[in-house]
Amino acid sequence: MPPEFLTNEQIIVAARRNVEQGLWDYLTGGSESETTLRRNRAAFDSIAFRPRILVDVSRVDASTTFIGQKLRMPVVLAPIGSLQAVHPEGAVASSKAAEQFGTVHVVSSATQPAAEVTAAGANGPRIFQLYVRGDKAWLSDLMQRVHDSGYIGLCFTVDTAVDSRRERPMLTGWIRPTRRNYFDPIYQAELTWEEMDEIAAMAQLPVLIKGIATAADARIALEHGAKVIWVSNHGGRQLDHGLGTMDYLREIVEAVDGRAEIIVDGGVQRGTDVLKAIAYGATAVAIGRLQVWGLAAAGVPGLLRVLEILEAELLSAMGLLGITSIDQLDASFVTEAEPVLAAHEMSAFPNIMGGRVY
Ligand code: FNR
Repeated sequence: MPPEFLTNEQIIVAARRNVEQGLWDYLTGGSESETTLRRNRAAFDSIAFRPRILVDVSRVDASTTFIGQKLRMPVVLAPIGSLQAVHPEGAVASSKAAEQFGTVHVVSSATQPAAEVTAAGANGPRIFQLYVRGDKAWLSDLMQRVHDSGYIGLCFTVDTAVDSRRERPMLTGWIRPTRRNYFDPIYQAELTWEEMDEIAAMAQLPVLIKGIATAADARIALEHGAKVIWVSNHGGRQLDHGLGTMDYLREIVEAVDGRAEIIVDGGVQRGTDVLKAIAYGATAVAIGRLQVWGLAAAGVPGLLRVLEILEAELLSAMGLLGITSIDQLDASFVTEAEPVLAAHEMSAFPNIMGGRVY
């Protein structure tokens, strides 16, 4: 592990050097014009802080709890498909980093290994993210394996009813490892609230619903017993021309009204982003691309370093905001502001110009 990673920007540059163009574009890009992708960053960049002063911040604690687990900071690892293209251990690598750091890994069903991560040597708390790829018998077998593997939650990703059009991979011809094996997309396209209930009953685990973009759907999710509302647009990789997630987090927080925990993701790249999300009412955030960049830069230690840098930023910003624990944050610490830079997928890192790393 090279000790010179002082910033996450350096890690992204190292990741870019290690990854071929096709894989890089798959990992980093979005769908069509990448408008949703940019709006995720634009929404974070449109929030400014209102710090308080002369508070004793000699001790600052960033820990919190989520789904009954203590988190070292309010950041979990989002589900990422095809991780085996980035790291030979695939999902196990992220699970190990999460366990070593002290957070939760949400394991994608579109990566390898999926249900059996524990058997491969990772024992931290994990949530299973499901894409429906088969019939009832397929589901019942998978839910049994998920249960037997000690997962603590079942996450339905619901913003992927059909494939989006991601043009970067179209241009390079890069094909995801999971797509190299044929599966029938019809099962996910046919998924409804009622079928989701049936699957949840098979799994007997707390349900997370990932990809909620409106207060109306958040209310329905609560009626269906969701324990976690996950505000997401898949990192701008599914429906294009959506809002940034921080643009609609508040309406969902209001609709949920404390009846479920809330995760938000999409463009989280800085400790300050985490604090903005918590100030708006999220329980925690999830990181997608930042996770992948850490693994691509230096494997498990690289991802661990990403989390440590994020934590250092978080603790510094908490002290400068005049708070000593996460639960002190509320909307009084933030306000709307004009973004300083044009948004791109890495606009949290101004030395990486235009979102392209050369
Ligand atoms: C994803 N995402 C995702 N989500 C999911 O539910 N299942 C999956 O298999 C995947 N696969 C995946 C692959 C890659 C390469 C990326 C970048 C993203 C979406 C992911 O969980 C998360 O919602 C976003 O990545 C959050 O945005 P940021 O942090 O990447 O900006």
